[in-house]
Amino acid sequence: MKKFSKIVSVLAALAIAALCCGCGSNTPDTKSDTTDSKASMTVTEGKLIMATNAEFPPYEYKEGDKIVGIDAEVAKLIADKLNLELEIADVDFDSIIPGVQSGKYDMGMAGMTVTDERKEKVNFSDSYATGVQVVIVKEDSDIKTTADLNGKKIGAQQGTTGYIYASDTVENGGFGEENVTGYQNGALAVEALKGGKIDCVIIDNEPAKAYVAANEGLKILDTEYVTEDYAICFAKSNTELQTKVNDALKELIADGSVKKVVDTYIKAD
Ligand code: ARG
Repeated sequence: MKKFSKIVSVLAALAIAALCCGCGSNTPDTKSDTTDSKASMTVTEGKLIMATNAEFPPYEYKEGDKIVGIDAEVAKLIADKLNLELEIADVDFDSIIPGVQSGKYDMGMAGMTVTDERKEKVNFSDSYATGVQVVIVKEDSDIKTTADLNGKKIGAQQGTTGYIYASDTVENGGFGEENVTGYQNGALAVEALKGGKIDCVIIDNEPAKAYVAANEGLKILDTEYVTEDYAICFAKSNTELQTKVNDALKELIADGSVKKVVDTYIKAD
């Protein structure tokens, strides 16, 4: 009997030891779980922080305190698919890419054109829209086509492709940096045009339409300047997020959701 109970207690001890070993071998797993969640795919776990510049209707603009527009809505659909909570940071356009590169924001979505220079700094998703650079002038302007822009005072939003192209040298198809003024946003450039400080504004077609509709005495030149693709940008190091967002975006394009959002903001003319 005694022997038997001894065996039982030895077995029990072994069982406890085995359990403990079990616990022990579980420890690394639990640890690696926490490490994984620390090395979260996004800046803040559970959130998708999108940097934009909400001065670009109908892609992003403010309605009261709320940021609305095509990019805001498409980003929300993407975040929902990834089970993340969308947070939008409204910053200057030219601080979006640096902020994405440094890991302050998860992605940049701002009617942003894919360019080779930008591709050296960030990765882009597939394109979800196109934009065309156009020229806004006063209705009574003597500027009739882009050929008349030489020597004129040109305004554009700083850091945008409109600014980059226009400020390039004449040999490269631009109008010379000395002729171009960069404004913090498109609205300020349009104000300067109305106030006679500049002769025209080079900006993407949809915001151009919105600004012309909202301001008396302006028109868009018929001649289009450059056609571009808009895409979402990511830090080069975060290909995991890029892939996930891009997959979600692809689905949303394929099932017509992106088009539906675009159609609510851009009425065919
Ligand atoms: N498409 C132009 C660019 O990428 C202008 C974008 C401006 N976007 C904005 N949200 N302000 O340079």
